[in-house]
Amino acid sequence: MATMQSLIGLINKIQRACTVLGDHGGEGMSLWEALPSVAVVGGQSSGKSSVLESVVGRDFLPRGSGIVTRRPLVLQLHKTDQGQSEYAEFLHAPKKRFSDFASVRKEIQDETDRITGKTKHISNIPIHLSIYSPNVVNLTLIDLPGLTKVAVEGQPDSIVQDIEDMVRSYVEKPNCIILAISPANQDIATSDAIKLAREVDPSGERTFGVITKLDLMDKGTNALDVIEGRAYRLQHPWVGIVNRSQADINKNVDMIVARRKEREYFETSPEYGHLASRMGSEYLAKLLSQHLELVIRQRIPSIIALINKNIDELNAELDRIGRPIAVDSGAQLYTILELCRAFDRVFKEHLD
Ligand code: GDP
Ligand code: NA
Ligand code: MG
Repeated sequence: MATMQSLIGLINKIQRACTVLGDHGGEGMSLWEALPSVAVVGGQSSGKSSVLESVVGRDFLPRGSGIVTRRPLVLQLHKTDQGQSEYAEFLHAPKKRFSDFASVRKEIQDETDRITGKTKHISNIPIHLSIYSPNVVNLTLIDLPGLTKVAVEGQPDSIVQDIEDMVRSYVEKPNCIILAISPANQDIATSDAIKLAREVDPSGERTFGVITKLDLMDKGTNALDVIEGRAYRLQHPWVGIVNRSQADINKNVDMIVARRKEREYFETSPEYGHLASRMGSEYLAKLLSQHLELVIRQRIPSIIALINKNIDELNAELDRIGRPIAVDSGAQLYTILELCRAFDRVFKEHLD
């Protein structure tokens, strides 16, 4: 679906231009909010960062036991032409291109520490990261700190509520597709992910249930009740996942090997073998991009309306500050305007 991909690509660019201009989807109805994104929700160490990494197909996120993700990470994937080399860029360091994903992970850690220190505190100031690659689908993903039940040593008592409020502020937005992550070695009835997802999305239309750590279940038990929708029914099918264990992470097991092992796990599993084609990270990535495409199709009319409104506002703003413009924000406005026009054009050419 080249056309849909190019539209999503344009949307990504518009979002990014808006972000540079200071529109982070905060107040009121912004363009940022009109466009879909995918956020992970779940308890601490349920496997959120691992799942996001698998969906992207690259190793770049800090993962591990305890509170590792301490600031929201807004990750925009931009699909580039075949043959182009892959790189990443942070909003806080716009001139610097990262071509090695281990250094992306280090920069996320350093940038987290820059705000929170090397503590167990959290900050709701997001880190914005863009990845440009021929091997990704155009998508915005948000990694979030895990929900907790108690503050640990060195954390204020308010942290439990603070994290919940922060996570809710992302997932309550109607444009947010929720990956509700629950580990298979805990009771689904107590899943923080499902609890919050149900609260902000009662109909379940934008919630995808993901069950991780299937490999860590007690012998003789399985998660079929959940996966087959008997324990907790969702509108979308549940997807079972086997991420890398901490031992795998310590041994630097790479993504390709991890995906192969995950596939083998399902294909050879006595319990889940019959579901193998609908399990695993690659299937989840496919399911997500299909859903995203559907959502965007449904939203095109309102996106166009909003873009047209923005074109008018941008024109007025450009008139007000005068053209031609040399200042950065003027140039950014102009970029957004051009991108909006491009979106309009591509849409009219191919999808009318
Ligand atoms: P987050 O805190 O929810 O972001 O979780 P992480 O992705 O950081 O993972 C927390 C820990 O659980 C890490 O040590 C992972 O290796 C481990 N982990 C995550 N998913 C799985 C899984 O499916 N199987 C196994 N064995 N370990 C997992
Ligand atoms: Na963790
Ligand atoms: Mg994490």
